[in-house]
Amino acid sequence: MISNQWYAVMSSHDVKKGKVTGARRFGENLVFFRTEAGGLGCVSSRCAHRGASLAKGCVKNGNIRCPFHGIEYDVTGKCVHVPSDGRASTADLSRFNLRHYAVREIGDIIFAWYGDAEPVGEPDYFDIITDPSYTYDHTEDTWGVDYSRVIENQLDVSHLPFIHRTTIGRGNKTLCNGPKVVWLDDNTLQTSANNAVDTGQTPLAGKDSIIKDTNLNFKFPNMWLNHVSDRIQILAFFIPVDDEHSIIALRFYNKITGKKSIDKCIAWLGSRANRVVEKQDKRIVETQLPKKSGLMIGEKLVKADKPIIEYRSKRDKLQKLKEE
Ligand code: FES
Ligand SMILES: [Fe+2]
Repeated sequence: MISNQWYAVMSSHDVKKGKVTGARRFGENLVFFRTEAGGLGCVSSRCAHRGASLAKGCVKNGNIRCPFHGIEYDVTGKCVHVPSDGRASTADLSRFNLRHYAVREIGDIIFAWYGDAEPVGEPDYFDIITDPSYTYDHTEDTWGVDYSRVIENQLDVSHLPFIHRTTIGRGNKTLCNGPKVVWLDDNTLQTSANNAVDTGQTPLAGKDSIIKDTNLNFKFPNMWLNHVSDRIQILAFFIPVDDEHSIIALRFYNKITGKKSIDKCIAWLGSRANRVVEKQDKRIVETQLPKKSGLMIGEKLVKADKPIIEYRSKRDKLQKLKEE
């Protein structure tokens, strides 16, 4: 994990009004809950009293109530009521307070702050998530590796003709020109596959290669955008579950016809195609060892791994910031 970052961790649709959703994130069991008024809370799921899971609890008057003895916590994890002490009690309840994660919701995505108590800045995201002209369909799948491995898979251009030889990697383009990597800003890298059939030529160096109209973009800490064309874009966020598990959330966005109902059908079909490609990746990436990526993990990288090297270097820098 990189500390002091806003991570995209869940689709807003997964937390309904007045309901509780239990989910493992950042190696911890958490509950997300939405008040009747629409406010969102994210707290540790373990009740401070005797350890029951709040995931089985309910929302009452803007608070989450433990199913065991009815203790209530607000959206910041502050204990607000211990039923057995009675309503008239004026006891200090702060010893029951739960760890809580600050949250934001943007473009139907829940972001949670992982790091020091108070968030610094706001989530960084691709504008498409708030662009009303696009329609999307959302799918998710759990992978048995750390989220960093899933991210790197989406920045890997040399696997295309092998893992995806029947889908997006057709054509036996095994030779990788570049890839060129540019930093659009301090937090966002861009690259593109510029592969070719190997006829004995020497691959172009990164500086001589190009970024194509179909390109890949990544924002730290965990959001990726495949700009297929101006009308079709595939967004992914890589949800950290724990050191050996992650969830890939994929959204197929399009504005092909501009008619919402038709674009919705296209997005649904796009999601089916995404799933086929994603399963091809998952089958192999889940075999990678170690399950978590890092700068010095004994891999022998090749020129085509440039985007992965850039990702690892920046990630390492950000991780060290916290240690300083
Ligand atoms: S364990 Fe939650 S109220 Fe007792
Ligand atoms: Fe892939």
